[in-house]
Parts: sequence; C-alpha cells; structure tokens
Amino acid sequence: MISYKRYMSKDGDYVASIVAKYSLKFLEDRSIISFAGGLPDPATFPVDDLKRIAVEVIEKHGCDALQYMPSRGVSTYVRELVDFLYRARGIRVDADNVIVTTGSQQAIDIIARMYVDEGVYIAVEEPTYVAALNAFRARKPRFIGVPIDDFGMRTDALEDKLRRLRSEANRINLLYTVPTAQNPSGVTLSVDRRKHLIELANEFDFLIVEDDAYGLMIFDEGASPPPLFCMDRSGRVIYVGSLSKVLTPGMRLGHIVAPREVIESLEPFKQIADLHTPSITQHIAAVALRERIIERSMPRIRSVYRMKRDAMLRAIQEHIVETAWWTRPIGGMFIWIKLNTRVDTERLLPKAYSRGVIYVPGRGFYHNEDGFDTMRLNFTYPSIDQIEEGIERLSRVIMEELCR
Ligand SMILES: Cc1ncc(COP(=O)(O)O)c(C=O)c1O
Repeated sequence: MISYKRYMSKDGDYVASIVAKYSLKFLEDRSIISFAGGLPDPATFPVDDLKRIAVEVIEKHGCDALQYMPSRGVSTYVRELVDFLYRARGIRVDADNVIVTTGSQQAIDIIARMYVDEGVYIAVEEPTYVAALNAFRARKPRFIGVPIDDFGMRTDALEDKLRRLRSEANRINLLYTVPTAQNPSGVTLSVDRRKHLIELANEFDFLIVEDDAYGLMIFDEGASPPPLFCMDRSGRVIYVGSLSKVLTPGMRLGHIVAPREVIESLEPFKQIADLHTPSITQHIAAVALRERIIERSMPRIRSVYRMKRDAMLRAIQEHIVETAWWTRPIGGMFIWIKLNTRVDTERLLPKAYSRGVIYVPGRGFYHNEDGFDTMRLNFTYPSIDQIEEGIERLSRVIMEELCR
C-alpha cells in the first residue's frame, strides 16, 4: 500500500487539517429536525423557468454556451449582471469592474490568495462565516477579532484594536465582513457603523472585503442599509456577491466588483483556479436576469422566509432559557443564540441529536475557537412545524443539561 501522505505538500497537509477541523459536520439524517444546514428551501427555486431557459439556451446558443469562455465571464452575462447590481443593490459599475466567479466562495479564496500573506494581520467578525475563515486560515495570517452586537460589528472595538496595533508599528491589511444579515449571526451593520468602518479603513489604511451573500434576502421592507461599496468614495471596498441565495446555489454563480486595477490583478488567480466559471450557467443566468426572474420570485421567497424566521423567534422567546441572547435578523438564513450559561454547545450536540434536533455549535465560527456557549440555527430549510417542535426539543435538552 502506498502512503500518499508521504508525497503531500506542507500546505496540503495543513489545509486538509484545518478544513477537517472546522468544516460544518452536517448530519444528513432526514428523520431529525435540522437547524444545522445553510440550505435554501428548494421550493423557492424557479425550476420551471430555468428548465425552459436551459432548453432555449442550448437550442439557440449551444455552440457558445458549451464552449470555453473568457476568465472574467461571459460578456452577455456580465452585462446583465451589471444592470442587475444597479437595480437590486444600487451598485453602479462597468463590465470592467466585474469578474464572475464559481460561487462567491471562489471569490473569497482568490482574494485571500491575492491579498493575504503568512503573518499579516487581517480582521474578521467574531463570529464569522466559517468557509471564508478557512480560506483565510489557509494563508496563515494573524487574526484580529471584532465582537458583534445587535447592530453588527462593533467598530468602536475595532478602532481600539487598530490603535493598539499602530502603537506597536503594526496594521491590518484587510478586513473581511458580512455586513448584511450575516452568516452565522444574522446581524446587520448599522449605517453609522458602516460610515465609521469606512473612515477607519481610510485612517488606518486597509482594504475591506464586503461579502454581500445575503444582501438581496432581506424580509423587512426598508430595513437594509446600502452596501459599503456604494458608501465608499476611496476605492477601498472589494464587493463579493452571489446568486446562490436568490436564484439557485447549484448554478455556482458568484462575482467580485472592484476597481478595475483590482479586477485585473485577480484575473490570473481566477484563471489558475478553473479557467472560467461554467459557460452554460452564465448563459442561463443571463436570460434569467433579463427576464427578471429573481425580482419576480423574490416577494414569494421573502414571505416564506419571513414566516419561518418569525416562527423561530416566537419559539425561542417562549422556550429558550432566560439568560440567553439571540439575534433578530432582518433577512438571511440564521439566528444566533448565546446561552450565557455554562452549557458547552459542542458537547450538547450528541444529546440534542439523540432527541432528534441538530444545530451548528458556534465555536467553529470564531478564529480563536471562542464561543463555547453559542449556536447557529438555520430557519430557511425546516418547515414551520419542524421549527416549533425543534426549538421545544432543544430547550428541553438545554434545561436538562443545566439541571445536571
Ligand atoms: C456569508 C457567505 N459568503 C459566501 C458564501 C458562499 O456562497 P456561494 O459560494 O454559494 O456563492 C456563503 C454560503 O453559504 C455565505 O454564507
């Protein structure tokens, strides 16, 4: 038997170990109530429209749609995307400011490769999106964690940390944030803090990577602040977006929007990663955007998810221990609970599983493995009945643990 480990690069070994350690361990057991996944409700996928468009695209444009295409993206799709970004998020850019990526995960990965060296300081929210954390961890930076509250990242705490770093002749190179309906916590950065963050980026000279994965999935009318990208006047924000949550994740369509120079510098990394994002899904999405399929399906998606979020908030209010703090997201997919007790949510998980309910323990979302008493709950995938039953089961497991 060959021992393949012997042939592995140092990085290969390291990356395999961090991803194994920090990946979300989804339990695919259908008989239990799962708040663990990050899956959209498949009932929200515009299956009939996409089927019709896919057939049309292959019939009419098969030669192009099945051919190799430029690394930056299929030009008809990029044009439609540029229009869509303006309509949906108020982002006014040219095609030169855009690169299409294979999911926004790839966008984060190539940005990390471009801007993060071993040993440099980068800042992230505490907690933050685990797969982004892993993409950054693979670059071996030093993390500066910024705590959150109901209004998103605490920029006052960030400022303190930046001043302290400066007094030691250090600085951060980049800050990664999910400012709107964050994964995992669901919180949204207030307008005042957005302004403060941009001021800090200018004063302390760093780039902001704005991950807007949930920017279009806002349920409460008028509650969503503008993207940081639109508030910034100095070209410090690199915007990362995705069609995963509003069209389908399986099409793997993400994008980076940034000053032209940044896009040009990222293009070789994109090319090395996969030459280009599949032409076929870009062609299908181009038609879907032109036909405004997302705009047409969003009201229904929003109302389905709003009902589920409200059901989960009501159940938490009714059942979960009084000491707990939990978030009230304006959109996205997740509610975050900090129990404020001695219960360790990682140790509690097998017990919850034996009672037929699972969640994601919060520790993996912290760069420093903090957050032993936190958990992430997904409300988009389970039904309302499952949400009510699942929260009740969870509260019983927590109470039993507290009474031990
Ligand atoms: C905050 C955030 N960013 C990026 C992604 C990656 O999404 P995708 O690669 O499907 O665009 C996710 C997926 O759940 C996410 O929650």
